[in-house]
Amino acid sequence: MNRKKILTSIMAFIFACNLIAGCQSKENEPSVPVMGTNIEDVTDAKTDITTEAAKVTQPEETTVTETVTDSTTAEEAPETQPEIHTQPETEPPVPPEPETEPETQPAPPPVTEADNNGNGSGPADYVSTTSKGYKIERIDGITYVDGIMMASKTYTLPASYDPGIRPEAYNAYLEMKNAAAQDGITLWIVSGYRSYYDQEIVYAGWVNRDGRDVADTYSSRPGHSDHQTGYTFDLNSLEQSFANTAEGKWLAAHCAEYGFIIRYPDGKERYTGYIYEPWHVRYIGVEKAKKITESGLSLEEYYGITSDYADSEDN
Ligand code: DAL
Ligand code: ZN
Repeated sequence: MNRKKILTSIMAFIFACNLIAGCQSKENEPSVPVMGTNIEDVTDAKTDITTEAAKVTQPEETTVTETVTDSTTAEEAPETQPEIHTQPETEPPVPPEPETEPETQPAPPPVTEADNNGNGSGPADYVSTTSKGYKIERIDGITYVDGIMMASKTYTLPASYDPGIRPEAYNAYLEMKNAAAQDGITLWIVSGYRSYYDQEIVYAGWVNRDGRDVADTYSSRPGHSDHQTGYTFDLNSLEQSFANTAEGKWLAAHCAEYGFIIRYPDGKERYTGYIYEPWHVRYIGVEKAKKITESGLSLEEYYGITSDYADSEDN
């Protein structure tokens, strides 16, 4: 190797060493002194990156925001969950509700008789008093005792009288049903409004099964049924053992608070004309219902009226 080549090699080696040393020095430079500054820088940078990312990815951000909003709503859902949980308590599963019953009632056939007051003589309005001094009014073939529409063996409703279920009675029933549910009691309607013609079919069925005399102890002849007033419901069960159930006891104890009376109480057959029906409630308003229930009397006894068919042996 000549001297020129040796010198060139030495210079190349020195140059290479400087290069390597310079690189190592730059890697080490930004160590400690720059750290403090770097925190802010990094923060700023992150902000910038986020901002930039937001700019760049705006459609996705919007999507994310909506997703977050949805997920917030979803998170809020548990707060409203109790309402969902209480729903079954206030609306317990019950047999087919009669809410639709009034709508499903068949329209009565054309009326051929103007009135059915038991003797076919037509409506005769008058005002009188009961044996206990309460006012009796007969208006358009309908009798009111102390303002209460009457339907019994004595007092009739016209065949054409077809009011459907009374909203005030139904609303009172719903209020009572909800109150009962709060006490763990489930009430439901077995039978509500029955037109004259519905009753005609019902009564004929019982007469066919048990004969007229027996049927008359528990089923009204058409034109005489409390159900035709639109203020009446049969609840839960048509068995007298209903009286001994939690539901039957609750109903007897609380129905007056909602304007209902047990229309045919136990042991009052000779006054009401019907055997004990612990399921049959009649709406007459809270004030009157409480007075009559607290008296321990049947409606007939309380007002001093009768419930006898005109063809009864007692007449
Ligand atoms: N069960 C009652 C008395 C009615 O038939 O109206
Ligand atoms: Zn009934």
